[in-house]
Order: sequence, then C-alpha cells, then structure tokens
Amino acid sequence: MTMTTATTMAVLLKPMISAQRLLLFQTQKHTSIIAQQPKQHGSLLVASSVRQSDNYCQNLVDEFDPNIPIEKALTPPSSWYTDPSFFDFELHRVFYRGWQAVGYTEQIKNPRDFFTGRLGNVEFLVCRDDDGKIHAFHNVCRHHASLVASGNGQKSCFVCPYHGWTYGLDGALLKATRMNRIQNFDVNEFGLKLLNVATWGPFVLLNLDKEILPQQEGDDTVGNEWLGSCSEFLGANGVDSSLSYLCRRVYEIECNWKVFCDNYLDGGYHVPYAHKGLASGLNLNSYSTTTYEKVSIQSCDGGSTESEDDIDRLGSKALYAFIYPNFMINRYGPWMDTNLVLPLGPRKCQVIFDYFIETHLKDDKDFIERSLVDSERVQTEDIKLCEGVQRGLETPAYSSGRYAPTVENAMHHFHQLLHDILKE
Ligand code: FES
Repeated sequence: MTMTTATTMAVLLKPMISAQRLLLFQTQKHTSIIAQQPKQHGSLLVASSVRQSDNYCQNLVDEFDPNIPIEKALTPPSSWYTDPSFFDFELHRVFYRGWQAVGYTEQIKNPRDFFTGRLGNVEFLVCRDDDGKIHAFHNVCRHHASLVASGNGQKSCFVCPYHGWTYGLDGALLKATRMNRIQNFDVNEFGLKLLNVATWGPFVLLNLDKEILPQQEGDDTVGNEWLGSCSEFLGANGVDSSLSYLCRRVYEIECNWKVFCDNYLDGGYHVPYAHKGLASGLNLNSYSTTTYEKVSIQSCDGGSTESEDDIDRLGSKALYAFIYPNFMINRYGPWMDTNLVLPLGPRKCQVIFDYFIETHLKDDKDFIERSLVDSERVQTEDIKLCEGVQRGLETPAYSSGRYAPTVENAMHHFHQLLHDILKE
C-alpha cells in the first residue's frame, strides 16, 4: 500500500472546546491556535466559571505527587482518565505545546504531495511545494472557515470547495472569487495561517504553540527539543529513513488516551499474562527500561534465533521507545512500527499504527502477511485490556493504584512529565 492510498493521519476528534475554555484561552497569552479563534461575547460570569474550572483541574493535578518515590507513590487519580473538564484542560496543555508527530516524510515525498489531519481541535494541512520546501497550515479557509483540503494526495494549489478561494502551496491566497466591491481587503493578509513544521528522521512534526519559526528540517535543534539526549541513541539504533513504508492500521478504542500509553509503559509486566503468543518470542528476563528527559526506552532480547530460511519477526532485540506525550516507535527484527495515540474524548482515543520494513524484505509478501497477523493479535489483546481498564477507572471502586517499582518506572516517568506540564 502506498501513502497515497493509506488513510491519512487524520484525527477525528470533534471539538469539545466549550465557550468557557475558548474564553479562557483568549485571556491567556497565546499563540497561533488562539489567534485563530473568533472573538467571543464573554461575560464576567463566564470568566469566573472558567477560573473555577481551571482551579478544579489544578486541584486534580495536585492529587498526584510526582516527588514521591515510585516505591511509595500512588498513581494519578482516576479523574485524570475520566473527567471531561480535565480532558479539555489537558488537551491544551499537553498537545498544543512542543513538537508533535503527525506524519511521515514519505507522505510528502514529492513536490505537490500533501496530507491533512486533526489534532485536538486543530485542523492541519502539510504539503511540499514545487521547490521541495515543506509547509504546514491551519486547514481552514479565511473566507467562511470551510476546510480547504481533505485526505491526502497531490495538488498544485488548494481550491476551497465552498466558494472557490484558491491558495498556493505556500499558503498564499492566489484568488478570492467575486470580491469586486470589497473594501479594506488585502489578499496578502488572507493566506492560510501558518504552523511550525519540521522533520526528524522519517517523521513530520508540528508545533502548534510557538510563534512561526524559520523552517527546521532534519535540524538537531528539533531533535533535541523533541527527543532530548535520546535523539542520537534512536538514530544509532535503526530508527532512520532507510526503511520502506508498508501500511497503516487504525484502531478506535473506548479508553482515555493515557490508558493506552500506560499499558505500553508497564515494562512488559502484562506481556506473560495477556500476550502469551508474543511472550514466547521474547526473553522477558532481559527486559530493561531507561528513561531520558521526554523519552523512555524499553528493550528486550528476542526469545528465538533467526535462521536463513526462517526470518524472525521480532529478531534478536526489540526496542520500544515512548516519546512524550503520545508517540511510540517500536524497532524489532527487520520491522519498525509506530503508534500515534490521538485523544478523541475523555474515554475515547484513536491509535494509528504505521509499519515500516527493511527494504530487502518489502516484497516478501508471506513474511509480511504473517507478521501483520501476529501484530494484529497483540493489538486486539491490548484493546480488550485497555477498554476493561477504562471501565474499571469509571467505577466508584477505584480512585488510584500503585506502581510495581521494578518494572513500571517508564509509566511513573510519563506521569511525572504530565504533572510537570499540567502544572505550568
Ligand atoms: S469558505 Fe472557502 S471560499 Fe468560502
């Protein structure tokens, strides 16, 4: 499957931004996203209730103490995973800050390639212009807010499907139809709103928070901001652009996005109980976890040896990198797959799996088919676990739990990072 036929990295979340939250963000010093919001007719009453909501969420944040050592710590309260106000609060603080993976360079390999997507309530459009430069915009027409492009593919310009306003691949407004008596209108001020875009290795990143910066492609600064000191380690361990893109699988799961992340970050704790098939291919005694600033790396030796006639899906070593807040890179045997966990609501997320393989195996259909079936089985098992956890979190029986100190340090690290950003 090619990227043009694959589903785009679209995020389907419907806006859950209440009038209260909109007003809140207008009152904060904010960036491109907030600048997009039309003026609201706020009132002191609404402002006051926004402050109450903010205080309420801050109190929930404070229910987790990141400074308590893992041996004594409680996990975050269940409200972090169930409360609609907290979800909204978290969306702005976690996802609209810092670099976020949104796609792959393969999706915009050639001039005029583009893809669209959604992160929280931000609709975005990424494209490559005729000179090879990558651009990203809010995918929102400056006339009456229609989405300008959808899906992915190739375009020489973007024509709004509503009234035909036309934008160049650099976002400039090229044509505004039937505007002949308009006054005080400068086309140069009505291009698509820019977003910060960068690439690292095979990944396309957006930063929805910052002022627009000069483009950073393959830039060490972006690598350092996104991955911290782990950037070099990943590059040296097979996370690079040399692999061939294969296909995408998309799952909608009835759980908070953090439930899926937590499940990933338990140091293989659940593997022998919930993934018996996978466990037989791994040497779980070799499981180890290393935490970096915003990344944790779990690694594990393979449980079987590779022979010339029988390629092993998992290979001799598996590496599972979690990049805060919601991106996972799994490198094992000849494979790399990535998991992007997108929040769709307090109890709903979408997880996008993209599969890459070492180039010499990209035509080995039998091996690929077998591997994808094995991978799918693991996803099905994880979905069942995550949906069960969400239901448990919503019951009155549970408020918070404990960590297994020798295996769940990556999860603890994730919760500490979340706490830090939610407190800022
Ligand atoms: S909304 Fe795009 S041209 Fe009218």
